[in-house]
Amino acid sequence: MTALDLLVRDGLVVTPKGTFRASIGVEDGVIIAIGSSASMPMAERTIDASGLLVFPGIIDEHVHFRDPGLEWKEDFRTGSMAAAAGGVTTVLDMPNTDPPTVDADGFRAKLEAASRKSLVDFGFYAGVVPGRVEELRELAELGVVGVKVYMSETTGIREPVDDLDLIRTMRVASSLGLRVGVHAEDGRTISRLREELRATGQRNPLLHMRARPVEAEVLAVGRALLAARLAGCGLHVFHLSSAAALEVIRALRPLGVDVTVETCPHYLLLDGEDALSRLGNVAKVNPPIRGRADAEALWDAIARGEVDAIGSDHAPHLPHEKMVDDVWSAPSGFPGVETMLPLMLTEVHKGRLSYEKIAALLSENPARIWGLYPRKGSITIGSDGDLTLVDPDAEWVIRADRLHSKSKVTPFEGLRVRGKPVYTVVRGEVVMERGEVVEDARRGQLVRPVRRGER
Ligand code: DOR
Ligand code: ZN
Repeated sequence: MTALDLLVRDGLVVTPKGTFRASIGVEDGVIIAIGSSASMPMAERTIDASGLLVFPGIIDEHVHFRDPGLEWKEDFRTGSMAAAAGGVTTVLDMPNTDPPTVDADGFRAKLEAASRKSLVDFGFYAGVVPGRVEELRELAELGVVGVKVYMSETTGIREPVDDLDLIRTMRVASSLGLRVGVHAEDGRTISRLREELRATGQRNPLLHMRARPVEAEVLAVGRALLAARLAGCGLHVFHLSSAAALEVIRALRPLGVDVTVETCPHYLLLDGEDALSRLGNVAKVNPPIRGRADAEALWDAIARGEVDAIGSDHAPHLPHEKMVDDVWSAPSGFPGVETMLPLMLTEVHKGRLSYEKIAALLSENPARIWGLYPRKGSITIGSDGDLTLVDPDAEWVIRADRLHSKSKVTPFEGLRVRGKPVYTVVRGEVVMERGEVVEDARRGQLVRPVRRGER
């Protein structure tokens, strides 16, 4: 038998179905052996994983790496360094770049940048320009994992998609075997509220919660579900933030919509009023962070299996862009790809989550939702050798100035966490080792989905 490229020895392997002690052998980027260390072939490199947890490579299904076009905020080098540092082996990047990923040229520009710079594997979502829905055919051929639709304005999106375009998009997407993910906030409600509030002359960050209230999310989630039902299209609700919107999904799911749901660490762990009053516009994000009761409802939904995925919504902006007093001019979003896994590991110690659930929400489920499973999201023979090794008991403090993102701000500043990614392995290549990113590691690759109908 030939020598393995990498042997990860004697770790506690975590999968959604259970946890077991095993060694894992990777050869040519693929897992070829799982078993006792005695049964393993020789290896060029061995990592002693005793005392460590071995997760299937963590997938962040929601990042904005800003590349191309907004590289002053982030690019695929810094974004992927943050990913590697945070134990993330695959990122799925949003289309609101410049050019946006709405046609073949936009896709190729992003592929060129990512292939040259990224340390981790990457997939792309297609965006939609109203009236140019047909571009999706070519984007599907090029290999987008899904479609992202903005139902309201946000960074880089001036023209939200209206109901008719949403239905048309879903019809085309469904015929191509692609799922449509929505940013579900009602654009018209938000623009009117913002103008009304702005006219009062107030500029306090707390107004963000009133300008983008739960109502806007409820209306958009409801319409997206109805549109998906009409079009017979799979729907993914990104960054669900409220109890009321969960209720709508619960009520409409029986219509037969194939709907999956994402939420983000900030909706689970922070209180909007508290965060905006303490941190100002650093905590401004779309949708806004809501109240404690909403966070509780989201935790409850996780426990019931109504939330399928956790993504970070890594949305970097430079500190000076964020740290302005005027709520109306501050951009929305903050980095998250590096802190997502540690924050969720910390919740295991608090009894909110299990390691198995983390393997489901942060790896297997996103891989399944976007057609990447079992190549990604799985520790099985034949899967990519993507592994995230974690020291479950390491305690440390989140500090914005130590993040690898260009955006050195975080609403989790100063938070003590327990659980630390210590090795990040992408197709057998170590891209982070004991906290140090291996900058000269082999570059990441595009991941293309197996689309519905192709399976
Ligand atoms: O807060 C947000 N920021 N929400 C979004 O949907 C977009 C993102 C960004 O790109 O900055
Ligand atoms: Zn986003």
